[in-house]
Amino acid sequence: MGGVRKFLFGHLSFVLGQDASGLPIHHMTALLIADTKFITIMKPLFFLIALLLISCSREIIKTEVDVIPQPASVEVYEGECVVAGATFKVDDRFDEIASAAVADFEAAVEAASGTVSGSSKTAVVFKYDRRSGKEAYSISIAENRITVKASSSNGVLYAIQTLKQMLPVEIYTGASASDKVWALPLAKIEDSPRFAYRGLHLDVARHFFDMDEVKRYIDIMAVHKLNILHWHLTDDQGWRIEIKKYPELTRIGSIRKRTIVGHSRRSNTYDNTPYGEGCWFTQEQIREIIGYAASKGIEIIPEIDLPGHMQSALAVFPDLGCTGGPYEVWDRWGVSKDVLCAGKEGTMEFLKNVLSEVAELFPSEYVHIGGDECPKDRWENCPACQAKIAELGLKDDEEHSAEHYLQSYVMAEMETFLASKGKRIIGWDEVLDGEVTPDVTVMSWRGVAGGHKAAKMGHDVIMAANNYFYFDYYQAKDTAGEPLTIGGYVPVSKVYSYEPFTEDMTEEERSHIIGIQANLWTEYIKTPEGLEYMLLPRLSALSEVQWCQSGDRDYDRFLREMEKMADIYDILDYNYATHIFDGRE
Ligand code: ACM
Ligand code: ZN
Repeated sequence: MGGVRKFLFGHLSFVLGQDASGLPIHHMTALLIADTKFITIMKPLFFLIALLLISCSREIIKTEVDVIPQPASVEVYEGECVVAGATFKVDDRFDEIASAAVADFEAAVEAASGTVSGSSKTAVVFKYDRRSGKEAYSISIAENRITVKASSSNGVLYAIQTLKQMLPVEIYTGASASDKVWALPLAKIEDSPRFAYRGLHLDVARHFFDMDEVKRYIDIMAVHKLNILHWHLTDDQGWRIEIKKYPELTRIGSIRKRTIVGHSRRSNTYDNTPYGEGCWFTQEQIREIIGYAASKGIEIIPEIDLPGHMQSALAVFPDLGCTGGPYEVWDRWGVSKDVLCAGKEGTMEFLKNVLSEVAELFPSEYVHIGGDECPKDRWENCPACQAKIAELGLKDDEEHSAEHYLQSYVMAEMETFLASKGKRIIGWDEVLDGEVTPDVTVMSWRGVAGGHKAAKMGHDVIMAANNYFYFDYYQAKDTAGEPLTIGGYVPVSKVYSYEPFTEDMTEEERSHIIGIQANLWTEYIKTPEGLEYMLLPRLSALSEVQWCQSGDRDYDRFLREMEKMADIYDILDYNYATHIFDGRE
């Protein structure tokens, strides 16, 4: 047997141009050729191997598939593998998330193809491969055998997503489609994401989206291989997360008496209808959503926006404000001048109690603590805030006022507190307007400048620039017929055009850009249909910016492949904007 193995290896090595034994190839070959009797015996086997090698080097007929985001490396060959009736096998080294996802995939293939699992010769095998990168996967599709390799449940989920997008769209619902061809082209796919953080934000404070709606949002993210949901849970217009120590936050702080009608910059009309009764999540519900997201490979990062954007909390606890109120849950959109008082110990205690429950509830390494849009008007005129400024010895300088440094103090206090709970913080780029501690991850929203500055300073950065990734902005130049939005203009092509690395960036700075995120603020979005319309198809463009290496992006290819994605949106009954499909953008 040893001789046979040596013979095979020698010839394989010769043909492949590699040396399996460590001997120089010409030396090895000479030894084997000398053994002519052996060659006569092994001739039939040799032909078999040659055949195998010929079939391995089959011609590549395509290097892309109709999958968004487009995988990093694709080779498609002539021929196909029938998937209907396949047997599915999962390596037991994968976790339950992976095995459940494979079972769901198998059930969908069975239902949609109308063919019982295990009734064909094909095997779909999910193999654990510790050499695969954290979120990487590979798929090899041969006749009668599909082999997926990954080292994590996320790798398995992404491989399934890729396979689903390559199959008839009924795979997404399990709707019977036995008339369709349930086969895949022979192919080899190697894939892994460019960025580790691939985020999408959801504001449930301005308008509320319930459990089913949040789950559906998570499903949409999963189709696009995103892995972070940034959940904006509190704002001036509503407090939406149960805090057991302060039940009034949701009982009172979730309800505003009325809401502005039309654009906040132009209107003074109100609907005179209370909004928000029952519109908040219990901690139990939040745990359920966290588990649901985890089953789709998505981590949830909660945001408690502070010290501004806190008017709903002030409505409950007016003592936490500089003036003592009274305050109301806000009925307008924009930036409120009423913010938490930074000079009172009670404020710090309140925030720590809230963050303590948040840190306990969410398994994520990060808590987002906001820091954006905190006007300093009240602090400038507040004895408690001014006393704190004096106590801390904060001074105006050429760049920032003492009040900016007071905000830096609040952020640093919360960071230290959360660090004691094993958490790191994310802050909006206003955290740079003052003094920022080194471990803060900066989310750049006022364009890209803050992100570039933060990366230079050595901070981790998430790019969520409003001019590329604010999905609450208009997506069409012609706004007639569009739903009212906050303003701005971010068409699909603009989202797609974003490249985070600039030529002048060092490798070190580049390594600090950990990811990219789009934000969906909901002042002007009241319904799930409206939410989906603003999200899709821009999310598809975002997913390629997050996933694909810059050289692998191609807008024409993307537009072609969006035709298939639109069919997927249709069968899933997602509401999406059609401008890119009918030539309007
Ligand atoms: C923001 O849009 N205020 C972060
Ligand atoms: Zn104050």
